[in-house]
Amino acid sequence: MTDLLEVRDLRISFAPPGAAPIVPVDDVSFGVAAGEMVALVGESGCGKSLTGLAILRLLPRGAQLGPKSAIRFAGVDLATLSETTVRPYRGARIAMVFQDPMSSLNPVMRVGAQIVEAIQAHASVPFSTARARAIALLAEVGIADPADRVDAWPHQLSGGMRQRVMLAIALAGEPDVLIADEPTTALDVTVQAQILELLDTLRRTRQMAVLLITHDLGIVAGRADRVLVMYAGRIVESAPASTLFAAPQHPYTRGLFGSIPRLDGPVERLASIAGVVPPPGQWPSGCRFHPRCPLAVAACVATRPPLVADTAAHATACWVTAGSPT
Ligand SMILES: Nc1ncnc2c1ncn2[C@@H]1O[C@H](COP(=O)(O)OP(=O)(O)O)[C@@H](O)[C@H]1O
Ligand SMILES: [Mg+2]
Repeated sequence: MTDLLEVRDLRISFAPPGAAPIVPVDDVSFGVAAGEMVALVGESGCGKSLTGLAILRLLPRGAQLGPKSAIRFAGVDLATLSETTVRPYRGARIAMVFQDPMSSLNPVMRVGAQIVEAIQAHASVPFSTARARAIALLAEVGIADPADRVDAWPHQLSGGMRQRVMLAIALAGEPDVLIADEPTTALDVTVQAQILELLDTLRRTRQMAVLLITHDLGIVAGRADRVLVMYAGRIVESAPASTLFAAPQHPYTRGLFGSIPRLDGPVERLASIAGVVPPPGQWPSGCRFHPRCPLAVAACVATRPPLVADTAAHATACWVTAGSPT
């Protein structure tokens, strides 16, 4: 299967004046095929959001892409485009939704007007047509009574409904790829499941590829086709979802399976693995997971393990569970 979106050697660095550069994303490569759902999973601070933003060329000020980094969409390397030439891709070919639908929606604009605005940003259609499309989009994202709700204010909607509206706005440009960055993290468990179900429906009915970014491996099961596990700026394991869930290889992935999200803080901790992800300036030598790894040996401290794939497209970067240094 040819990938619609292909990220190669993605490297993102910040070089603050007078300080050593930091590299929060390093050597990340993956592809997403049309209609495929790929999950990018890892604890907070691993570089997931920067990876998603880089694809849309929406990196924060001061961030730089590596010279070898390529972001090919339908054969065009978005990394080489200017701000002006990359703009037609945003929203219309690749769209993104974020964690917090309240801060992404304009609180003083009716939801329908925000969808209409998004539709008219991508296509020159008269208001009446755009409004009819907005109502159809609200219906598509599962909002009941869309002809009434189109005139609602954001604060009149529940968190789950606001996230559905955000999805309607993201769909306004008829994207081929949707990047969903922690789309359900702010929602309670029942609503989370409904939004994930909706994402799954949308990618099937629209053949839209979805890159689902999450810290929660649990929500990925049964939905994603493939899973990329990211730790400290690198992909440490990638596999078809069924393979990864049946037989996770990397000790970090195994740790994620034992993770229990804490309710009392913003940082998710692993129940079975002590410690947290260090900040990018303090990433250790060799395998960056080695200080937290119960299986680490001397090679893990000395040498970075390459991401090596077996015949079943299951790739793991670990000296202990997937190979030995030679
Ligand atoms: N604007 C920025 N300036 C400097 N460092 C940043 C900036 N944005 C993110 N980072 C660094 O990149 C790391 C990864 O960020 P992010 O991609 O948001 O991680 P994730 O989404 O996996 O939680 C953060 O821990 C932070 O240290
Ligand atoms: Mg993030």
